Amino acid sequence: MIKYTSEIAKATDPLFEKVKNVIPSVEWPTMAPLVHRINELKAEKNAVVLAHNYQTPDIYHCVADFVGDSLQLAIQAQKTEADIIVQAGVHFMAETSKLLSPDKTVLIPSLDAGCSLAASITGQDVRQLKKKYPGVPVVTYVNTSADVKAESDICCTSANAIAVVEALGNDRVILLPDEYLSKNVAAQTEVEIIAWQGRCEVHERFTAEELRDYRESSPGVSILAHPECSPEVLEEADFAGSTSALIRYVNVNRPQKVMMVTECSMSDNVSAEIGEEVEFIRPCNLCPHMKTISLQNIVESLELIRHEVTIPEEIAARGRQAVKRMVDLEVEGKGFEKRSNQRDVIVEDRASVSSLGTLSR
Ligand code: 13P
Ligand code: SF4
Repeated sequence: MIKYTSEIAKATDPLFEKVKNVIPSVEWPTMAPLVHRINELKAEKNAVVLAHNYQTPDIYHCVADFVGDSLQLAIQAQKTEADIIVQAGVHFMAETSKLLSPDKTVLIPSLDAGCSLAASITGQDVRQLKKKYPGVPVVTYVNTSADVKAESDICCTSANAIAVVEALGNDRVILLPDEYLSKNVAAQTEVEIIAWQGRCEVHERFTAEELRDYRESSPGVSILAHPECSPEVLEEADFAGSTSALIRYVNVNRPQKVMMVTECSMSDNVSAEIGEEVEFIRPCNLCPHMKTISLQNIVESLELIRHEVTIPEEIAARGRQAVKRMVDLEVEGKGFEKRSNQRDVIVEDRASVSSLGTLSR
C-alpha cells in the first residue's frame, strides 16, 4: 500500500479540486496515492487511459487521458500514439480498441468487465440470422464480441445508430443485439428493422411509470434517457441520446433540475464539472461490469501489463472491417427526436433462428 505523503498530497491537490464536490475529503487520502502512481506509470510506459462516461469520478476526472461514449473512445483508440491503451470500461470496448489499434498493447484491468448485451449473442447466432434473412445487411451495436462484429457488415453505437442504418440505403436492415435500441431506431426511420432479443441489464430496469412519478415529485425536471431504455421510457423523456449526447445536453442547456436515466456515475461526473448550478435527481442504476474497474486494478494492470486483450487474426480482420466502416462513415448526431412513431419490429432470438439448422461459414 502506498502512503499518502505530503509530496503526493501536493501533486494530487489540483486533481482533488476537480472532484471535491462528489468525493468526500476523508476518502481522498486512500485514492490519491493510487491516482499518483497511475499517472507516474502512464508517463513511464507511454500509456493512456481511455475511460467511458460510466467510470467513477476518481477514474474519469483524475487518471483518464480521454473520456467519452463508445464512439468517441473508438475514434481515440485509432488516433492515439501511445504504446499501451488501458481501457477503463468494459471488455467489448477494449476489443474495439484492439481492432482499431492492432499494434498496440490493450489492457482491460478487470476480467469481469462484461456486458449483458455482448453476452446475449454469438457469432453462430448471427450466421443463423443471415441464413434466415439472406441479403439483408447486418448492423451490429459495438456492445458485442469481436466474433459477432466479424459476422457483421458494419457497426454502430448509440450516437450514430440511426445514421448508420440509413446510410446503407436498404429498406430492410438487421440491427443487433439490443431489442430496445432497435425499436427506438425503428421509431425514427422508414427503414424496416429486424431486431435481436438482447437487453442492457441496467437500462431495462427503468420504467415509464417511475419517470412519471419523478416528474410529479420534481416539477420542472428535464428527463434525459439513453436509447438502451425501453420505447415507453423514451416516450416519457425530454431528450434521448448516447452518453455523451446526454452530457452535452446538460452542459448546453443547464436545466435547473435534471434526471439522467442511465448509469449512476454519469451524474457524478457531470456534477463534479458544473457544480451546484444544476440539481441532479438520481434514480440511476449501477452497471456491475463497469464498476469492476478500480484505481487499484488500473495500477496492477499497468505495473504487470495485464490483462492483455488478444483477438485471433482471422476474426480480427473481419471485425476490424465492420468497426472501420462505421468510423470512416463519420456520421454522428442524428438524434432520437421526441416523436411518437412506434413501429412493429420483428424480434428474433436463439430459439427462433436455431430451428433453421446449423450453418457452416
Ligand atoms: P454509449 O455508446 O452511449 O456511451 O453507451 C455505451 C453503453 O454501454 C451504454 O450502456
Ligand atoms: Fe453493457 Fe448495459 Fe453495462 Fe452498458 S450499462 S456496459 S450496455 S450492461
